[in-house]
Amino acid sequence: MTDEIQPIASQNFGFNSIGNSVANADKLESIGSSYALSSILLSAVELNVFDCLVDGAKTCDRIAAEIQVAPDALKRLTIALTAMGLLQCDSEGKYQNTSVATTFLTEKSPQSMTSSLLFHKRCYDLFGNLTAVIKSGKQQFAKSAPVDNYYSELAKQPEEYFIFLEAMNRSSVGIGTALATSVDFSKIDRVIDLGAGGGQISIELAQAVPHLTLTMVDLPIACDFLQRRIDDLSLEHQLECIQGSILNDLSQQLELADAVILSGILADWGATEGVQILHHARNLLKPGGLLLVSETLFDETKTGLMQPAILSLCMLLAMQGDNFTPSEIASILDRSGFVDVRFCFKQETGVRDLIIAQKPL
Ligand SMILES: C[S@@+](CC[C@H](N)C(=O)[O-])C[C@H]1O[C@@H](n2cnc3c(N)ncnc32)[C@H](O)[C@@H]1O
Repeated sequence: MTDEIQPIASQNFGFNSIGNSVANADKLESIGSSYALSSILLSAVELNVFDCLVDGAKTCDRIAAEIQVAPDALKRLTIALTAMGLLQCDSEGKYQNTSVATTFLTEKSPQSMTSSLLFHKRCYDLFGNLTAVIKSGKQQFAKSAPVDNYYSELAKQPEEYFIFLEAMNRSSVGIGTALATSVDFSKIDRVIDLGAGGGQISIELAQAVPHLTLTMVDLPIACDFLQRRIDDLSLEHQLECIQGSILNDLSQQLELADAVILSGILADWGATEGVQILHHARNLLKPGGLLLVSETLFDETKTGLMQPAILSLCMLLAMQGDNFTPSEIASILDRSGFVDVRFCFKQETGVRDLIIAQKPL
């Protein structure tokens, strides 16, 4: 546990210090053209190419007929996927998945990444607007204005929301387990997870700390998804899901908790809503209760880390908020009446940064 605000080490993107070196030019070319590889992979997943091959090798014409695409165009895609090592072609011209594709790119595989990649496809399309958004400073996720926010827009398409929640679950793997080792839960019985998403964090925490009961709060559409996961995992004795808005004070509806989780929430919202959400979280805590915030933080000078920089641009493209530096988040927690703010940085936990604060006794 790190008590003070520490600088996070900068990342080097791989350039060397010789400005005009061939290696640097190659690096730039590789970054500039990486859209092609990304596009090939994401389109193949979107078109169900790999799922079409789970029952055996097929010719390109047969795949095209099954997934209803143009055979000649598909041929070019399968050639590219073969060159990438995701398909193999036999001497009769039949394609099959490589073991990597079978493991990670087919929907029924336990290690499937398809939802996460489908969500990347949505983000890929959003990033196509980056130049226009940087020019105008205005989000462009909605074709017709005005819209409330990204989530209300997404909720109009339940299937898209489920892809988002599956993708969130994947990006949150390990956070609940890391919480269980970073925080002393011996005196904590009841936890509220505000904006629980696909439930990954609460589920991991429930499994790691069997005496906990957790109430997950999210929008109705997410609760449908969450309830199915609770039932599938038979965790009804530890987990419940309540429909509600984190923008409202829920303290009259919910029993007060020993800890409140806000994971991947605060950076979504602008400063006004952020303070509002923290105020509501504070009202849901017993005196002395813990606030557990999981976020991807910038380094203090915003000069080194790529991951929060990319997420910050995602926020610009789709949401109202932004990623925080350690001192920015410490300041907003302080202004919202929390004390004893502590950090557990990603380097220590291996997953997102964890910020722990306390409601005064
Ligand atoms: C970025 S996701 C984080 C999910 C989860 N906490 C995690 O870290 O995996 C944000 C979540 O906030 C939920 N959300 C958005 N607006 C909300 C609102 N007004 N009330 C409750 N939940 C909301 C979304 O449905 C989504 O599940």
